[in-house]
Parts: sequence; C-alpha cells; structure tokens
Amino acid sequence: MRRPVIAGNWKMYKTPSEAVVLAKGIVKALSSLNGPEVVVCPPFAALTAVGQVVAGSRIGLGAQNLHWAKEGAYTGEVSADMLRDIGCRYVIVGHSERRQYFGETDENVNKKSCAALATGLIPIVCVGETLAEREAGRADAVVEMQLKGALSGLSPEQVRRLIFAYEPVWAIGTGQTATPIQAEEMHAHIRKTIAMLVDAEIASGVRILYGGSVKPDNAKELLDRPEIDGALIGGASLQAESFAAIARAATK
Ligand code: 13P
Repeated sequence: MRRPVIAGNWKMYKTPSEAVVLAKGIVKALSSLNGPEVVVCPPFAALTAVGQVVAGSRIGLGAQNLHWAKEGAYTGEVSADMLRDIGCRYVIVGHSERRQYFGETDENVNKKSCAALATGLIPIVCVGETLAEREAGRADAVVEMQLKGALSGLSPEQVRRLIFAYEPVWAIGTGQTATPIQAEEMHAHIRKTIAMLVDAEIASGVRILYGGSVKPDNAKELLDRPEIDGALIGGASLQAESFAAIARAATK
C-alpha cells in the first residue's frame, strides 16, 4: 500500500504574511480530511511562519531546495540542518525550474538528496523531460538518466525513503496536463528503472507523484491511476480551496 502524497510547491509566490493566510486556509479546509499525506512547500522566507501555522495539524512542511554541505561559506544557501530545525520534514530536490534556470545537475540532485536523507528530511526528487525531448522520442531515456544520476551511490534503504515526482517540463504552468495514460506510462517506466537500478521490492513501495498543471478538475482521473501515488502542485496550490479539492480527490 502506497499512501498518496499531495504536495503544494508555492515556488516564489507569497510573502510570509500572505503565506500565513494561505496556510491557515489550507489547515481549515483539510481539518477533516483522512487519507493522503499533505505537504506544503512555501518559499524559504515563509517557512518559519507557515511552520507555526501547520504545527499540530496534519499538514507537513517542506522546503523547495537545500544545499548539500552541512554548513560553510556558501552565501545565500540553506542547509538541511537549518530546514530540520525550523520543522521541515520534506524538501523538493531537482525541480525542473532549478535545473533550467539555476544550472542544477543530476550530480547536484544526488548530493542534495544524500544531505537531506542524512538529516532525516524526505527528499521529493523531481524528474521529467522537455517537449523537445518527448517529441524526439527520448523521454524515457532522459528520465532514466536523471534517475541514474540522482540515485548514484544511494543504498536501497536510502532509496526507500525517497518520494519521486514526475513533472514533464511541457506540462508545468502551461495548462497542458499529461494525459492519465502518458503519466501512467512514465510512472511505470520510473518504477521499472528504480527496480533495475536498486531493487524490485523497494521500487514497488516508493511513491511517485505526478506534477504539471494538476487542477481540481483533472486531479481525480490522474490520481485514480494505480501507478500515480499523488501530485506535486504549483499554481493550484496557491489557493486553499483548489489545493484542498485536489487533496480530497486523492482519497482513493
Ligand atoms: P503547475 O501545477 O503550476 O503546472 O506547477 C507544477 C510544478 O512545477 C510543481 O512543482
């Protein structure tokens, strides 16, 4: 049994005061929800404030990035220990926007995942192909390479604690969601790749989320698919009602 995960990636939206309002709305809207694991990932500046709002609720706190070093002279960076200390349990690693705009590589993703695990954080490792890669028939190979890089040197027990997110770049923020079949096929491929690289039993237990234009009106058909274990939501996580509606759709 894989418990569904519904995670909101707020990206660089919401000042701390706006974030508190949103977090309060989400806590209220989901107070009676049973089933999925729900996570919100506000920007760094709002983590402490949102952490206080969700403390004691069923909503978990996640960050959107971290540095791999324990500490050091890395101006502008944030460590896993810092995130743990303010109450984070999750951290997104390797989001395509970080790969695209900030030069994040598979090697970085690997180092960040190791650092997060060493501190007890659960990495949400993102993979996904661009439109050009899909059109060239290379989607499977690209995702496989990303997984190989991300998982390099990790023990099976470490991989067991990861959450994966398949986010096709062409579906992010475009309103062009992958069809449930496209998503399902890639999720199956990801699981098969993890089985090949790590272990079949571990592959069958890890959660693989879908991300890319998930909205209340398409969430159910995606989440109903057996291979899709939850969603990583951008735009629709910025309003309590739409995020809550997607979380409710995950009650299988
Ligand atoms: P959208 O839901 O806005 O397409 O964003 C998806 C995403 O990038 C989540 O990490």
